Amino acid sequence: MENKRGEWGSNLAFIFAAVGSAVGLGNIWGFPYKMGANGGFAFLLVYLVLAIFVGLAVMLGEFALGRSIGRGAVGVYQRLDKRFVWIGIIGVISALFILAFYSVLGGMVLRYTVAYVLELVGADGFAGMGTDFFGYLLYDPSTMMIYYALFMIVTLVICMGGIKGGIEKFTTIAMPALAVILVGVIGFIAIQPGAIEGYKFMFAPNFEPLQENFFGVLKTAAGQMFFSLSLGMGNMITYGSYLKKKENLQKNAVIVTFADTCIAIMAGIAVMPACAAFGVDYGSGPGLLFVSLQTVFSVGMGGFVGNLIGFLFYFLVFIAAVTSSISLLEVCSTFAVDRQIDTGKEPNRKKAAGFFSLIIFIIGVPVALDALGSGGAAMLAPYEILNSIAGTNYNFTDGMPMAIDCWLDLYDCLSEGILMPLGALSMSLFIGWVIGTKYIIDECEVEGNKFIGAKFFEICFKFIVPAGLIVILVAQLQDFF
Ligand code: TRP
Repeated sequence: MENKRGEWGSNLAFIFAAVGSAVGLGNIWGFPYKMGANGGFAFLLVYLVLAIFVGLAVMLGEFALGRSIGRGAVGVYQRLDKRFVWIGIIGVISALFILAFYSVLGGMVLRYTVAYVLELVGADGFAGMGTDFFGYLLYDPSTMMIYYALFMIVTLVICMGGIKGGIEKFTTIAMPALAVILVGVIGFIAIQPGAIEGYKFMFAPNFEPLQENFFGVLKTAAGQMFFSLSLGMGNMITYGSYLKKKENLQKNAVIVTFADTCIAIMAGIAVMPACAAFGVDYGSGPGLLFVSLQTVFSVGMGGFVGNLIGFLFYFLVFIAAVTSSISLLEVCSTFAVDRQIDTGKEPNRKKAAGFFSLIIFIIGVPVALDALGSGGAAMLAPYEILNSIAGTNYNFTDGMPMAIDCWLDLYDCLSEGILMPLGALSMSLFIGWVIGTKYIIDECEVEGNKFIGAKFFEICFKFIVPAGLIVILVAQLQDFF
């Protein structure tokens, strides 16, 4: 049975894969700009506290839940208590929507990577548009679709290779490569004059934002933390389910949480000083990852060096995005594979991955085509649709409730904003109050690894984690009204 599902070849392979899942666009793009917009240092502090008291416990809970049953996001509930299967289903649905918009962004990153390769060999990678390329790309539906499709295909091919032959093979090469490139880019940016402002922006103690809007900072940091650590929708349950019993789950949870946080901070140390050194707005949203950074590399640095660093940077982001997208697709594939095994069928992972990526691809098409809601694109944005059928008068700047400007925002709000906190809250209550934290502790100790801090873990799971999640949910609802 075990062999049919597959498993990680070693504990290190598992760590690369799990860190690969965690490190993604959330770290390199979301973290720096959210930190920037929420008081820099104050945000970092809140983030760290949350990661230690909430993230770590949930990570461990997910690993143990998955490994104890050897089933993924849905399968664990199927075995443990059928009444709660819907928690797993919520997770799979979140995965569909997250992966849909994630892959569109991944496709755009791929397009930028290709642009810098072309620039390096002397061709015009940015179609003569220079730094206006971002706007141009958004209104070029065929290019958006092609690169979106390419990104999905890369994700699919890796997942079809299976746990050991696909995901593990890719992440054990990709993650060290990512670390090396990141350190190189940080080093190069550090020697640019003016970079220091970027560090100050990130690290100078400034507690004003906390006094002004504690709830706002808390909510942003908590949402970011869950997304960045790939928590709350069964991703780590899925990856944990392929881990051998002898491995130390507690140690692994600490390593993955720590590594993800380090890389988020490192990304900030690369991105913020780069913008500062070349007088580019830190911006926010997709603008930071695309417009601001292209300006840094192509205009600020310029020439061969600019193109080389630009290529390395976007390639790094591409790697980070792929190691995350495969984990999202794997949540879906594992769901199907588990079902096939449990109903006595021969599991067909390739077919499962193919089926789900097709569905996800279709879901993401509007995201690729609505020019991020700037209006008048190949696909109407949600607010344009509302305006035409309900006679409302929303426009791009005067957005809809919950700041939904485009399909990406809508999917993000649905998945990251509602389904994930809901799923995570239900899961934490399930672990804390239904099966009990002793279940998790026993699983960690099953082959002699001693559990450290059982009491702390129990308090986290029973009280702090649900409280944190309720804060996120309430804040989301407040945004809505
Ligand atoms: N953590 C990844 C990032 O930071 C994205 C991701 C992968 C994710 N798997 C997930 C987010 C599961 C939420 C849930 O970019």
